[in-house]
Amino acid sequence: MRRVFFLLTMLLCAGLTYLIMPHYTYAATEDPIKIKFTSIQSELYDDPSQEPVMIIPENSPVIVLFEEDGWSEVQYKTFTGSIPTEQLITSKPKHLLINSKNEPLVRMTDSPQSDSLGHLYSNSIVEVYEIDSPQFVFVRYGHLAGYVYNNVFVQQNARQRVVKDPSVIVRSTAGASGVKIGELPAKTEVTVLTNFNGWAFIETDQASGYVLASSLAISEAKPTQPKPPATSKKIALTFDDGPHPKVTPQILKILKKYEAKATFFVVGCEVKKYPQVLKDVANAGHEIGNHTFNHKKLTTLSLRNAKLQIDSTDAVIKAAIGHNATVFRPPYGAYNKSIVNQLNVPNVLWSIDTLDWKHHNPQKTLAAVQKNAKNGSIVLMHDIHQETADALDSILAMLQKQGYEFVTVSELTTK
Ligand code: NI
Repeated sequence: MRRVFFLLTMLLCAGLTYLIMPHYTYAATEDPIKIKFTSIQSELYDDPSQEPVMIIPENSPVIVLFEEDGWSEVQYKTFTGSIPTEQLITSKPKHLLINSKNEPLVRMTDSPQSDSLGHLYSNSIVEVYEIDSPQFVFVRYGHLAGYVYNNVFVQQNARQRVVKDPSVIVRSTAGASGVKIGELPAKTEVTVLTNFNGWAFIETDQASGYVLASSLAISEAKPTQPKPPATSKKIALTFDDGPHPKVTPQILKILKKYEAKATFFVVGCEVKKYPQVLKDVANAGHEIGNHTFNHKKLTTLSLRNAKLQIDSTDAVIKAAIGHNATVFRPPYGAYNKSIVNQLNVPNVLWSIDTLDWKHHNPQKTLAAVQKNAKNGSIVLMHDIHQETADALDSILAMLQKQGYEFVTVSELTTK
């Protein structure tokens, strides 16, 4: 029912917009749409109690229509349906300038034959998300989101400016009708990426969007060195099945060397044996996740016993470090909706499986990360095998060289 209502609203909006506006622009009544990425290969459901409608590949962009009860209603290309919210992660877009003689079309799918949803304007700045396509990227501009050829963008030279009195409204598109997404007080330092018809696209630590160019002044502060590219790549390393009295401390030492933060999905019975090791992990600033008490495949247990596995682990974690786990990962990635309903924290899987537990080969662990790493990846490793500790230094060195920042799972999934 809700979907029917949503579609009707969309049609009505589109119809009205079409009548009023010469160009494609949605009325400025809703928040800017939300783009997320699948963190694993995900099944799209019409109705979660029935067979999936289709499989969405890992690392695909979806438009989130709304979220409810652990499920997200999404649009993927020409399909609409539900997928579990925990299979979606946010990704930080690059802000790039459109540099093209023609106004590039935004398409429904990454195919040149695909229907067009509208077009972008030359010299405007849009949010650009890299996708696994040789020709296309995924783009958002206001309420328009879809696939665009990747050869129409250029990176801009940034200039420092400061907000004039009294304050300035930040909008999602260049124009007074753009959706208001925030307000910056006077004297806020901003980075201007482009000017477009009297509107400046700005970035600050907190916000990005269009403001009236006339509300900005040249910053009196001494010129700062050029900012690193707008893109910041993040990756979450995760270590399962510990804590281990010998391997975990080695891993902590290597993470410290690179100032890297990671997430440890610990097993309750090991925490009980080595509470001090877990304490050291938490004190070093890493995130602690619950990975059940005995590493049981939860889908083979009664719901009551599954809950017991989760709760007893929370209890020993709290006893050791003074607070609960902030994320959960089911052993073997095995879970269902009723198990997820028992959780008070996000259910987190992974996108890169190093298979370190299987091959015990540091070279292969490194190769698995090297081959698959991208912005937003969640890497699965185990801090109970010496060979994993042996691989870690070279993994961190390789990723650092590629510009990755090492964050916890929670930092990765929230903006
Ligand atoms: Ni495990």
